[in-house]
Amino acid sequence: MLNKIGVIGGGYIGGVLVQEIVQRRLAREVGLSDPAPFPNPADPPDRQAVTKKQSVSIGKGLDMSEGLPEIRRDARIVASKDHSCLAGAELVINTAGVPRKARPDGTYPSREELLAINLKVTNEVATGIKEHCPNATIISIANPLDAIVYTLHKRLGPPKNKLMGMAGVLDSGRYCYFVAEAAKVSVENVNAIVLGGHGDDMVPVRSSCQIAGVPVEKFLDQETLKKIEERTRKAGGEVVGLLGFGSAFVSPAWAALEMAEAIIFDKRKILPVCAYLDGEYGVKGLFVGVPAILGKNGIEKIVELDLTSAEKDALAKSVAGVRKTCDEADGMLKKL
Ligand code: 2OP
Repeated sequence: MLNKIGVIGGGYIGGVLVQEIVQRRLAREVGLSDPAPFPNPADPPDRQAVTKKQSVSIGKGLDMSEGLPEIRRDARIVASKDHSCLAGAELVINTAGVPRKARPDGTYPSREELLAINLKVTNEVATGIKEHCPNATIISIANPLDAIVYTLHKRLGPPKNKLMGMAGVLDSGRYCYFVAEAAKVSVENVNAIVLGGHGDDMVPVRSSCQIAGVPVEKFLDQETLKKIEERTRKAGGEVVGLLGFGSAFVSPAWAALEMAEAIIFDKRKILPVCAYLDGEYGVKGLFVGVPAILGKNGIEKIVELDLTSAEKDALAKSVAGVRKTCDEADGMLKKL
């Protein structure tokens, strides 16, 4: 158990995170920060004054605190509109940013299209972390995932083992779920890894996919696997299209918590995480999804898989996409 975990962003993912942190007894104290709601400058002053007093994070924090007796938990939930409630957090999970949302015609933006707006939010998040919990290990969930983690690295420069993004656990979980469903076996039997950026070019690694230790091809034919891999790449968008109001929030929160638990309990668990690469997989200076051992120091070691040549090509394509978005982020950051 940690003394304190900070959650940045009191939206849907942030809400699930705080509930689960308390339920799972991961920390004695949880800090939840979110500046929303923002007064609308077009509103009359008295309406703006009311909005200024409202707070998503303080409201959610109070709601959950009042339920603690029912679930028999003594955790302390602190919340604020600024980032002061993060003070002293040893681990911070960043969810701050605008999610993808379906348009009226049913289409939805790519994660990369969120860059400009979420970069500004990330800039403020970085300032908050620097001021209140500069030594915290950081797991970031906001999109576009790889470029936001890269931006936190640029703004904060923490040791490379202490900053990571959550995407691979979510994407691999989706891959495993679709395989388990098609093969009609328990999700507990399926093992798989998705590499690369958290975009539509992510790489479900078929050569790593096994059911009870047996290659997945023994259970499912090539055509079914191809369809599953395509669905995995687009799975985030599938949920956005269905929900209408935003993007997936329970599975991303659970995925980040699997990473958090590996760190908190020093499990040395191998999970796919968005990690800083310094030559591994032939990539330097970018954050990309790769398997890593997670333990008390955060990223203990990056694990290099033997990929097939098709998988290597697919990873190179995905990395090129990540590089493009990070270059755009660099350009935008200069103007912030
Ligand atoms: C997803 O893939 C939110 O990016 C996240 O659902």
